[in-house]
Amino acid sequence: MIRWIFIGLLLSGVVQAQNIQMDLNREIENQFQKSYYWMSRNVHPEDSAPGAIVASPSRKNPEYYYHWVRDAAIVFDSLMDLYQLADNETQKQQFRRFFVNHLNLNQNLQMVPTLGGLGEPKFYPDGSAFNGPWGRPQNDGPGFRASTLIRLFSFVHNENWSNGKEIKTLIYDGENPTKSVAKKDLDYVAKTWTAPNFDLWEEVNGFHFYTLMVQRKALQLGVRLAKFANDDEAARVYQSELIRMNQVVGSFWDNRQGFIRATLFPRSSKLKREKSQLDSAVILALLHSDLSDSVIHLADDRVLSTFAVLHKTFSRIYPVNQKEQLGVAFGRYPEDTYDGYNTNSIGNPWVLTTAGAAEYMYRLIEFWASLNEVRVSAYNEAFFKDVLGIEGASNGQVWRRGSNEFKILMQKLILSGDKFMMRVLYHKNPDGSLSEQINRNSGFMQGAANLTWSYAAFMTAKLHRDRAYRILGGGLK
Ligand code: NOJ
Ligand code: NOJ
Repeated sequence: MIRWIFIGLLLSGVVQAQNIQMDLNREIENQFQKSYYWMSRNVHPEDSAPGAIVASPSRKNPEYYYHWVRDAAIVFDSLMDLYQLADNETQKQQFRRFFVNHLNLNQNLQMVPTLGGLGEPKFYPDGSAFNGPWGRPQNDGPGFRASTLIRLFSFVHNENWSNGKEIKTLIYDGENPTKSVAKKDLDYVAKTWTAPNFDLWEEVNGFHFYTLMVQRKALQLGVRLAKFANDDEAARVYQSELIRMNQVVGSFWDNRQGFIRATLFPRSSKLKREKSQLDSAVILALLHSDLSDSVIHLADDRVLSTFAVLHKTFSRIYPVNQKEQLGVAFGRYPEDTYDGYNTNSIGNPWVLTTAGAAEYMYRLIEFWASLNEVRVSAYNEAFFKDVLGIEGASNGQVWRRGSNEFKILMQKLILSGDKFMMRVLYHKNPDGSLSEQINRNSGFMQGAANLTWSYAAFMTAKLHRDRAYRILGGGLK
């Protein structure tokens, strides 16, 4: 731990900085391997259906031993990242087998009668319906699942998988009515996206930014796939819903408070209705939708501003953030009362949101390194000043690619991303296992042990870190 105290020297003493850098690289690589190890144990555990992914092995206090549609999609996506990086054929084959099982399982899940229809949030690991009381439907699930399966479609197609035709038809058949998994989800999204439903935290019924962004990505990919499959009617419907979606994205922006609101028209309990609507879900929405379009993108002023407000708020409310000179541990939202076991308690920082903050920094590098300049505005000024510590940043200033200032900006982003990673490393269990939360006072892991999503979040952040380093190592022209 001691060496992290020297992190402030990163940009000064070069030799020392390089040593710290190497230590950190090693620790991150190490945690990446361990995350993979722990995550794998939650991918089709023994008593589950082939293709299932459990949210955590914890069967009680809290009860997380379920195949959660959202968590599964996030983890499936990171498994596809790993598949792309895998260099031995046996391993690739194992991945492929799992992917097909996962597709088949989802076909079954769509047909099991549930209380929430296609928006049913979770199933028993054997694929049977959970019919207890729960916040349902949660409509980010079908959108997310469709996007991951469309990505799988592209692998199958581009790599010419042996049973490719069958797999592709199971993902998207272009028929009406359809028997295929992604098309069912896409049709559901196109039909229901304006209907109130529960948010990704499973607490608030309303109309959510996170859900909308994930659904938008699904329809964007859906339009392309429908055209490819000569399903013109579907392409037309998805496209027209997309245009309507694009028109409402802006209404989440709260100009007075300077952040994008998590939910519009919340219908749940008074407490949740009165929350500020400041929420890390907004940052996750950008990470999980990956849309660099003109409607909204990663480095949009409104998103940078939201990040700055979250950063300031979490650094103030969690005592752990006042102790070490590491990146700020991020929670879900400031008024959170879920401590990982009980709902009427007091909330904590979470691993997946803190790793998400790291990933956000690395992805800003990827995004900005492809532009000619970065411009400071009244909205994003706080991000540069308070989050990155560029004190002189002022409205109207422009950093041009190739300039020294631009390079410093990139270094600050890397440093800031790395500090978030150190935050996670600092609080992990000694065996590299990660739970859902970080106790706000003691810093110990808390809530569902071995949360699969925590590992996926760390691993994707690390993969984006590698890319960011490659971009900067290659030098900015
Ligand atoms: C577990 C999680 O869904 C969490 O978001 C929620 O607050 C509690 N259950 C209570 O429903
Ligand atoms: C609670 C979280 O709020 C929710 O997003 C997640 O799906 C479940 N836990 C399972 O990990």
